[in-house]
Amino acid sequence: MEKKIAVILGDGIGPEVTNQSIKVLNMIAKQYGHQFSYEYALMGAVAIDETGNPLPDETIAICKNSDAILFGAIGDPKYDNDPTAKVRPEQGLLKLRKELQLFANIRPVKTYPSLQHLSPLKAKHLENVDFVIFRELTGGIYFGAKSLSEDGTVAKDDCSYSVMEIERVAHLAFQYAQKRKQHLTLIDKANVLETSRLWRKVVQAIAKEYSDVQVDYLFVDNAAMQIILNPAQFDVVLTENLFGDILSDEASVLAGSLGLLPSASVGTTAALFEPIHGSYPQAKGKDIANPMGSILSTAMLLDHFGMQEEANSVRAAVDWCLNNGFVTKDIDTSNSYTTTAIGDMISEFIERHAKGEKHPIHERLHKSTII
Ligand code: IPM
Ligand code: MG
Repeated sequence: MEKKIAVILGDGIGPEVTNQSIKVLNMIAKQYGHQFSYEYALMGAVAIDETGNPLPDETIAICKNSDAILFGAIGDPKYDNDPTAKVRPEQGLLKLRKELQLFANIRPVKTYPSLQHLSPLKAKHLENVDFVIFRELTGGIYFGAKSLSEDGTVAKDDCSYSVMEIERVAHLAFQYAQKRKQHLTLIDKANVLETSRLWRKVVQAIAKEYSDVQVDYLFVDNAAMQIILNPAQFDVVLTENLFGDILSDEASVLAGSLGLLPSASVGTTAALFEPIHGSYPQAKGKDIANPMGSILSTAMLLDHFGMQEEANSVRAAVDWCLNNGFVTKDIDTSNSYTTTAIGDMISEFIERHAKGEKHPIHERLHKSTII
């Protein structure tokens, strides 16, 4: 297959982790006979520095003209601590989501037996954790009208949702649940918020079309507690934009490292793939960041292309590295490998896997790349 991929390296560790994903994609192309072409585009702090705009029009055009978008990370500390900054890197990502109508953000959360010791939770709570968060991504308080009174003493952020906005993401979540354990949990705050009551009404109505899916409803405060107390109860979690942002970071600690979690943002036409971690500026350029969140996002990109076998070989490679201790510093401080080395190992695994060769990966690679 021939596919055009827009690549947005972004800020901080974005470029170094995304480069490992490109390495992996190139190996997939070579082994499975595909042609991937890449077009690079600017977004975030790096785009502000070069053009004054966190999302130049050219980036939107490149993204619209591609089959998928691979994105690294966004954010720079020089903007984080300046609440008066008029232009911020994050505006680029929010605008891109809106422009491309990427209304569903899919964030899978699972635990790995070999990493249980890294989680702050007791091992017994981590067994059988395997759920997917469907976060609505282009509505709610993120995109409502914002204002600050002239004297600067009162601020407002409107939160609104239409039936259509709820329906389109809910249908995707129900369809996903049908392919999994047929269980969907809607998380809202329907005891307080009007928007949440609309979510509940719409989801209750849609549920009738998916009678094979069992539906639960949880208030977000309780859900935040349940994710820690009994995360194995979830299969597909459906929620609005802000709750999904918060709960997905919370859920990421279950896996043991934020660096492992991938995500896909999809709409009716475009699709964007990115790790859920941020730009981790302290690690920028040090070759220590975990590239697995980006590489697993690449597996989701391959799923999106209908390349199941290819996607599974990427996931098998990541599993193999995790099970055999080939990990970055965030996972093992005393015996860690560089970002580049993990990318190399995953690519080599894919090559051997495709050729039907046995593992383990070449000794030379292990010895020479440990840091
Ligand atoms: C995320 C991030 C973004 C969000 C930021 C960078 C705007 O936290 O993708 O979860 O809040 O959506
Ligand atoms: Mg977030």
